[in-house]
Amino acid sequence: MFRKRRVRPTGSPDELVAIVEKGVDPHVVVFHEPQSVPAEQFRGLRNSLVSLNSERAPRVLAVTSALRGEGKSVAVVNLGCAFAELRETRVILVDADLRDPSLEDLLGLAPGTGLHEVLTGRLPLEQAIRPTFLRGLSFLGAGGPAEHSLEILASGRFKPILDALKESYHYILVDTPPALAVTDAGVVGRSADGILLVVRLEATPRSRVEQALAVLQGLGGNVLGTFLTGVPLSARRKDAYAYR
Ligand SMILES: Nc1ncnc2c1ncn2[C@@H]1O[C@H](COP(=O)(O)OP(=O)(O)OP(=O)(O)O)[C@@H](O)[C@H]1O
Ligand SMILES: [Mg+2]
Repeated sequence: MFRKRRVRPTGSPDELVAIVEKGVDPHVVVFHEPQSVPAEQFRGLRNSLVSLNSERAPRVLAVTSALRGEGKSVAVVNLGCAFAELRETRVILVDADLRDPSLEDLLGLAPGTGLHEVLTGRLPLEQAIRPTFLRGLSFLGAGGPAEHSLEILASGRFKPILDALKESYHYILVDTPPALAVTDAGVVGRSADGILLVVRLEATPRSRVEQALAVLQGLGGNVLGTFLTGVPLSARRKDAYAYR
């Protein structure tokens, strides 16, 4: 993984693109390999989500999974890039994994303030939002570190933040911790319009997926579907990703 602490726009526009590109994690295939099958699969998922939204209302989508390391954060960034490719579509990624945030790394951004500071009233929302390497794709990091993430997320301030983001963005994609590890994902999920459940092929036991579904729905979440991961991103198989 490439990690650049700070991106300074010092050179010509061409140089700037080259500098920024080095900072973006290679798993962001919609950016690094836009013609690849995995990138196309993320666009397919985007298209499914757009078709579910016939009234074209602003939408908050939470992404979670049963267990750790199933590909949630990578999916959030790729899906965000795919949405931002659509004309006149403004997208924001929100890192609500306050315990173990990773979107900054994936986006190649330096650690900064974010959701934690906004939720605790120490920073106005608009000051916490940052641009990314892609036009139309903004970012609200986790900030922190947050010791009491569940309390902070469940404090009643989170939903108004999402509502405020709906004023400026068409799609708000929210990354979360694993649903079976902590309650954070369920709390975030019930504030979202829909939840995507990432399932790692041949790794996540069916019983754990069913348990996660029960937890999310039990907390009032609207689970839209599952998104399968788990085939190496360099693979060119047509079934590398699936959405149903
Ligand atoms: N679609 C995918 N196909 C294959 N491997 C993937 C895919 N997405 C992610 N990975 C691999 O899984 C690792 C973990 O991905 P990621 O950080 O997105 O998981 P996560 O579910 O967000 O983890 P955590 O629960 O720790 O937040 C990545 O570093 C990458 O190696
Ligand atoms: Mg993650």
